[in-house]
Amino acid sequence: MQALDENILEKCRSAKRVVAITGAGISAESGIPTFRGKNGYWKSYRAEDLANFESFQKNPILVWEWYQMRMEICRKAEPNPGHLAIAKMESLYPEFHLITQNVDNLHPRAGSKNITELHGNIFTTRCTKCTYNSTLGSDSFPLPPICPNCNSILRPNILWFGESYDIKVLDDCIQKLRSADLLLIIGTSGQVTVPVYLAEEAIQSGAYSIEINLDRSTLSKKVNVHLQGSASEVLQLLMVK
Ligand code: APR
Repeated sequence: MQALDENILEKCRSAKRVVAITGAGISAESGIPTFRGKNGYWKSYRAEDLANFESFQKNPILVWEWYQMRMEICRKAEPNPGHLAIAKMESLYPEFHLITQNVDNLHPRAGSKNITELHGNIFTTRCTKCTYNSTLGSDSFPLPPICPNCNSILRPNILWFGESYDIKVLDDCIQKLRSADLLLIIGTSGQVTVPVYLAEEAIQSGAYSIEINLDRSTLSKKVNVHLQGSASEVLQLLMVK
């Protein structure tokens, strides 16, 4: 990757309110397969086939097996320089917020604190009937896990396809995006409507927008700059404060 244009660096230097939106691409360099890449399948299933409530109702054990396999990958993975750069940005800007679509827990492990995990966290579970929720440790558990309060089945605390986002969480993100002067969009294909809508909120409100991706995405045409490269490499070049 060659040196970045001075105009882009100046936008980063002068920014005060920054929002970053990340997707699976930032964790690819930690060894976590992206959703829509060539390693995004498990057995013959695509993420879309398993990450929905209907599939869970039909076969909770199958869906839990998929999550257990993914939890194991996430547990073994380490945050990479891209996650670390984003965590560091919190101390470089007066306001910095991270909105991630990733559930792999690598951003919190890298030290990010101002974070919205839009689609949940793979290490958390909640009851399908009552309000019970908890964090999953590293111990294995019988499948499907059962709620200690009401004996119903526990499910991964993940926002699945077809499920509604928490309106309060979205409102909070929208406020931050509307006042952002710099938007970083990192490693997402832009195939999921709500994260794309969130990015557009900031773009339409006048934030200078930089996309970092190995390939083009549905957002590439809408941003001020598309930086083609790996998230970890490019993010380190953008740390110019
Ligand atoms: N650096 C930068 N970008 C990368 C890298 C990398 N090292 N590796 C891959 N990418 C890019 C790919 O080019 C692709 O555009 O990351 C993107 C990954 O896209 P997806 O697999 O579609 O993941 P994402 O956009 O996060 O998916 C969104 O869809 O399945 C649901 O809920 C799930 O949160 C997920 C959502």
